Amino acid sequence: MFGRAKEEIKLNVEFCRSQFPSACWDWAFFENAGGSFVPQSVIKRLTEYMTECQVQPGGPFPSGALAQKRMDEGHRNMAEMIGAEADEVVIGPSTSMNIDVLSRSLRPLWAEGDEVIVTNLNHEANSGPWRRLAETGIRIVEWPVNPETAQLDIDLLDRLLSDKTRLVALPHVSNITGDINDVKTISKRAHDAGALVCADGVAYAPHRFVDVKDWDVDFYAFSLYKTYGPHIGLLYGKKDLLLQAKSRHHYFIPETATSYKMNPAGPQHEIISSLSGISDYITAVAAEHLDDMPNDLFSRTRAVYDLFSSHEADLAKVFIDWISSKEGVQLIGRQTADADERAPTFSFISEGKSSEEIAEAASNHKVAIRHGDFYAKRLIEALGIDGNDGVVRCSMAHYNTLDEAKQLVDALDRIV
Ligand SMILES: Cc1ncc(COP(=O)(O)O)c(C=O)c1O
Repeated sequence: MFGRAKEEIKLNVEFCRSQFPSACWDWAFFENAGGSFVPQSVIKRLTEYMTECQVQPGGPFPSGALAQKRMDEGHRNMAEMIGAEADEVVIGPSTSMNIDVLSRSLRPLWAEGDEVIVTNLNHEANSGPWRRLAETGIRIVEWPVNPETAQLDIDLLDRLLSDKTRLVALPHVSNITGDINDVKTISKRAHDAGALVCADGVAYAPHRFVDVKDWDVDFYAFSLYKTYGPHIGLLYGKKDLLLQAKSRHHYFIPETATSYKMNPAGPQHEIISSLSGISDYITAVAAEHLDDMPNDLFSRTRAVYDLFSSHEADLAKVFIDWISSKEGVQLIGRQTADADERAPTFSFISEGKSSEEIAEAASNHKVAIRHGDFYAKRLIEALGIDGNDGVVRCSMAHYNTLDEAKQLVDALDRIV
């Protein structure tokens, strides 16, 4: 790893927590997969924009120039963090919207009878937009999860790929199971068959380093409000593909304006500017831990996410140790705390109590968790789980402490 830790390579969780508003820590918060907390650096950037330059960016006056500079900086920082060029990154209202726009912008490149492979492991955001293309003559090919393990079989994908496959849509991590899929191998297999890959990284990006070039994914989407930022989404696309994709913006926006043409909502000025607060936070954590700070944001981000990931594995172990010793409670997904195998997002059902009862009872212990299908409705159905009640989901982030993880399992132990 770039930059050695000053003493030992352990995340200083108290330092991380000190970067967030103190009100965040009143409860043991384990609904991070629904949206993470936001550090002061993001709030500061947002406030600065809104107090100093809340004008249309680019105007020929000082506030217009400052607004443009700050917005460009926020956009560039997000691209740099994932190893992409700025014009390979679209920042739009949400992942749901970004993928919807993407599906419509790729459709004109495909012929009637072409195929898209979609799995029921997906959150609906990376499912519905592709499935709707069936109305326009695209054939949808199902890549079903194994209903026993809730996992995907890559060899099955090989059998589904054909010379008509144009794209494979899958989650990098399921927001229910937390299991990590091997996107690098899946991209290679899809490319060998001449198909593209659109990976949903929403449940991955808060926990692990995003390296789109190493994985060679064609499109990669995640939600910045789950990676310590404001409520907005990021879509990465390879430059040549974004150039080919048909604009969803006004007719006079040029096809070469790759970031702009794919966000018909228009850029969310102050929000994009505030994204520099995410990279400020990463830089602050890097400075706290590394004695030879990398100059580039990409390497700093990698080093910081290495720290996040090993702390998260310690948190995950608390949960896995508890659930594996518990009768009548079924974990959905891999029973491991290994950081290469899963993110610390856990879902379970209990024989004795409904998911709703469990999530509600947890609040008596000042533990914040939720129940439901989390918009992965097709997965819940495929697993034969009651769709009205769904699963109990407990999702951790790097800023959770081991004490909080124990508070969570103690509370669950009493409830179930
Ligand atoms: C795995 C996953 N994909 C996609 C989404 C949709 O993201 P957005 O709310 O930005 O549309 C979510 C939201 O929870 C998610 O968990």
